[in-house]
Amino acid sequence: MRILGIETSCDETGVAIYDKQNGLLVNKIYSQITLHADYGGVVPELAARDHIRKLAPLISLTLKESKLNINEIDAVAYTAGPGLISSLLVGASLGHALAFSLKIPAIPINHLEGHIFAPFLEKKKPSFPFLALLISGSHTQLIKVINVGIYELLGDSLDDAVGESFDKIAKLLGFDYPGGAMLSNLALQGLKGRFTFPRPMTDRPGLDFSFSGLKTYAANMINNHNKDDQSRADIAYAFEDAIIDTLMIKCKRAIQQTKIKQLVVVGGVSANNTLRSRFQKITRTLAVEIFYARPEFCTDNGAMIAYAGMVKLDQNDKKIRTENSLLSINVNPYWSLTELLFSDK
Ligand code: KG4
Ligand code: ZN
Repeated sequence: MRILGIETSCDETGVAIYDKQNGLLVNKIYSQITLHADYGGVVPELAARDHIRKLAPLISLTLKESKLNINEIDAVAYTAGPGLISSLLVGASLGHALAFSLKIPAIPINHLEGHIFAPFLEKKKPSFPFLALLISGSHTQLIKVINVGIYELLGDSLDDAVGESFDKIAKLLGFDYPGGAMLSNLALQGLKGRFTFPRPMTDRPGLDFSFSGLKTYAANMINNHNKDDQSRADIAYAFEDAIIDTLMIKCKRAIQQTKIKQLVVVGGVSANNTLRSRFQKITRTLAVEIFYARPEFCTDNGAMIAYAGMVKLDQNDKKIRTENSLLSINVNPYWSLTELLFSDK
């Protein structure tokens, strides 16, 4: 059983082939970062047009590298939401067209579910139930993963997502979009203790997050201090430290509340090395096992979508499209983990 995975929810065109027997065969990614750099963020119309240009050639390249014939693909999994609607439609349309022509199923995948499954692409895999901390450019969520498709949202962002906050402060520090990783690099030169930033919403119970106040705090610090390299690094350090600390406090709470001893940390920000080394403390103090995906599977990619497709096929998921149902293509830019893909209304 071989699944072709397609990811086009934002500014990465991702294609991969996952083989149930042999694991991941090929994973190809085309990033649009340079296309959007001048605008300081993703321009949806440009993103969709670029997916149109890049997706079909990337599928051909993926097949070529896998040495498979297109007829040896058994299903197509594609990201159906959440994400930018025009970009989602590119992957969904091509995915459905391919499935229709090959007479194979098309599987709509929730992008967040894709991220949650990314650590299963590694040797060290979690088992159900586990907690997931999803930290990406558009989401900050704590999720109780009871089983495939059975999720309980324990905490969510009330405003800016972690990745978004990283990118906005990185921009004020002079980095191009998306500057999260560069901010983190700069923070390595920062002095501990020169600045201490607030840990938002940790002084009250609950598992929700809010980073917009911290962002404003950091922005004011940048405006009120010299722009010399050491000050920039010290502010980057204090900002990253506050974010990591806040995430750790909420994860500890979720672990204590649910008594679940496995934590997966996923999404683009989980590639952050400082975060990974700080999170080791949770392993020690709470006897919790932590699971990550390798950095290329933390940010958006086709491999996690192909893998999620295999899981959905195994479960005979209700959303799988076959035969005539392949002719109707739906995406949902606001598809939450705990909702059906399309409402009945
Ligand atoms: O999961 P992802 O590729 O896209 C979404 O689904 O949103 O996450 C992208 C986000 C960006 O905000 C990027 O700056 C952030 O992940 N990111 C990082 C690092 N690597 C990527 N943030 C902090 N440190 C990193 N090393
Ligand atoms: Zn993502």
